[in-house]
Amino acid sequence: MAIYLTATGLHKPKDKITNEELVSAFNAYVDNYNRDNATAIEAGDKTALQHSSAEFIEKASGIKSRYVIDKKGILDPNIMAPIFPARKLGEELSIMAEMGVDALNQALDNAGLKAEDLDGIICACSNFQRVYPAIAIEIQNAVGMTGGFAFDTNVACSAATFGIAQATGMIKAGLAKRVAVVNVEITSAHLNWRNRDSHFIFGDIAAATIIEQSDTPKGYEILDCKLFTQFSTNIKNEYGFMDRSEYLASGEEMHHDIKEPVTDKLFLQEGRKVFREVCPKVSEIISTHLAENQIASEQVKRLWLHQANINMIDLILRTVMGKDADKNIAPIAITEYGNTSSASPMIAFHEHQDGVSSGDLGVICSFGAGYSIGSVIVKKI
Ligand code: COA
Repeated sequence: MAIYLTATGLHKPKDKITNEELVSAFNAYVDNYNRDNATAIEAGDKTALQHSSAEFIEKASGIKSRYVIDKKGILDPNIMAPIFPARKLGEELSIMAEMGVDALNQALDNAGLKAEDLDGIICACSNFQRVYPAIAIEIQNAVGMTGGFAFDTNVACSAATFGIAQATGMIKAGLAKRVAVVNVEITSAHLNWRNRDSHFIFGDIAAATIIEQSDTPKGYEILDCKLFTQFSTNIKNEYGFMDRSEYLASGEEMHHDIKEPVTDKLFLQEGRKVFREVCPKVSEIISTHLAENQIASEQVKRLWLHQANINMIDLILRTVMGKDADKNIAPIAITEYGNTSSASPMIAFHEHQDGVSSGDLGVICSFGAGYSIGSVIVKKI
């Protein structure tokens, strides 16, 4: 039975922040903080904060801009968080569902399908705005899919390939014929915009991918999927519904003030360690996966990689394909979008298919917190 990745869709939030805008807001916050805490800093009770720099951000990560759902709050040095009004569940579409519906409708259009042609929707993301009811089921309802099933799954930045593997497996098992994988990321709400080490990394987005069994070959045939996880605390977001109980047990006061968010529970990473540990493992997984499928690396025409860092992409490309590998093999989306977590390899895939010809082989690969790595080998029809 052949299974195909037949179409993708992309929802882009309207607001875009350049490095220069971001750094200007961050540095204003730093100046305010250092001024307000001058006495404590002088006495050695507090540490002065350091400026961020647009040059550093571009050189260290490759990022020049990112899309977000609310620019104004993020760029206000007194707030530094996106602001959006609560929506009444059941009466209004949740923000995540709204973004996912737009990406999914585009993917359905591109596949020439209607929502009722789907048997399943997997909403595969890093950051869910609530625990339940599942965002996927809300999307299922909103697009007008009357039968089938929908569920959420979280494999952090690797959620797209894990979702594709899950969809492929369910189709093989006879549970469905067509499944949509939707990756919605409101990373701007989980990011600590006051943390110099990571304030520049993420962007908001939604991507959708249609996976179908078909007697007529179309799109890309999914040849094989490989998944890998290994526990690490080097990338984490511990924010959750246990916070209240943990604060009560600790005797500390709850943080109610938006100016003092519970920053230690938001996104945190040991960037250097992640870079050092994840790159070789990703290269190993892709190379092993290709070998298991009797594919030589020279046969691979495109690597649609997770967009976490331009230097990681370059290193993985050279390790898998050889040190003189053509850079066009691993397209770059991080420059414009930043790291969009689960959606990122699908943005690269969505936007960079030029030059891929019938019969060409490609790999969609994601990696991220967990650690988690997923590799999907595809062949262009
Ligand atoms: N502006 C200016 N300087 C900064 C800065 C900023 N925003 N942030 C850090 N620096 C400084 C540091 O203080 C440090 O200075 P020092 O050498 O004087 O101590 C220097 O720049 C290097 O910092 P470091 O954190 O080691 O940078 P890096 O080269 O490792 O780049 C990342 C940081 C996050 C871009 C990089 O580590 C990375 O991308 N890692 C992988 C992340 C990843 O894939 N995560 C997965 C998430 S899904």
